[in-house]
Amino acid sequence: MYQTLLTSLENNIYTVTINRPDKLNALNKTVFDELDTVMDVVYTNDEIRSVIITGAGQKAFVAGADISELNGLNKEQAMALSQRGQNIYFRIENSPKPIVAAVNGFALGGGCELAMACHFRIASDNAKFGQPEVNLGLIPGYGGTQRLTQLIGKGRAIELLVSANMIDANTALHYGLVNYVVPPGDLLAKTKSVLDIINSKAPIAVGHCITSANCVFDMQKDGYVTEVILFGECFASEDRNEGTTAFLEKRKANFRGK
Ligand code: COA
Repeated sequence: MYQTLLTSLENNIYTVTINRPDKLNALNKTVFDELDTVMDVVYTNDEIRSVIITGAGQKAFVAGADISELNGLNKEQAMALSQRGQNIYFRIENSPKPIVAAVNGFALGGGCELAMACHFRIASDNAKFGQPEVNLGLIPGYGGTQRLTQLIGKGRAIELLVSANMIDANTALHYGLVNYVVPPGDLLAKTKSVLDIINSKAPIAVGHCITSANCVFDMQKDGYVTEVILFGECFASEDRNEGTTAFLEKRKANFRGK
């Protein structure tokens, strides 16, 4: 179905693997088009409760935008590409279903930005993160200047942005860029075990947590106002009734996402 992605759905977890290992999974136009289509599937398929994004092969999550497609761009085309990338990454960030990056090697440039657009990140111990765009006379264009600063703070972010330095997985853990570091062979199992726990919770409430938390970084929205509204909306869901009733009846809740 896809030229550059592999997808599978198991136990309500949709795994999306960027599959250009000979090019370190670099993001060309086809990958972007297919990621956009994948997001349609994530938003509309009720069987999907959460998503893993990872890269094929042992070496890279994603080594950035495909540099061969950048060479001939003029200013307007570059702005359009940046906007396109940002729009796809906003769809990931704003998904009500948790999307986790399982970072299995280099996450550079647009790859680091992709991982940062996910709701959180789990890394193998050989992962390396960086925004090397200044090596190419560029800046990050898919939200990297914003999300790196949000995630690790301004001083560390600006140092990484302007130096093009890479950090290893344990430094990323120390900076709060990733939640866990595990051996490469354990990466998908660990990510799935974290998502299995999340998938047992009330899906509407899970989505509202993400929406509300995202408001912290959205200047157009008041997160406290959003929290009040979404708290109220939980009370209009069957799952809230099931959750509180099951607690009072001392039984496990059976959430249906309604
Ligand atoms: N775009 C296009 N192709 C890329 C790529 C990218 N971002 N990153 C890697 N590749 C390709 C290489 O050109 C090479 O292809 P080839 O075998 O046809 O020549 C292949 O992937 C393997 O990469 P290679 O550079 O040989 O591996 P390495 O182990 O020596 O180095 C990196 C790994 C990640 C350090 C190096 O590939 C690199 O610096 N990539 C670019 C990272 C970057 O600047 N990203 C931001 C882009 S805006």
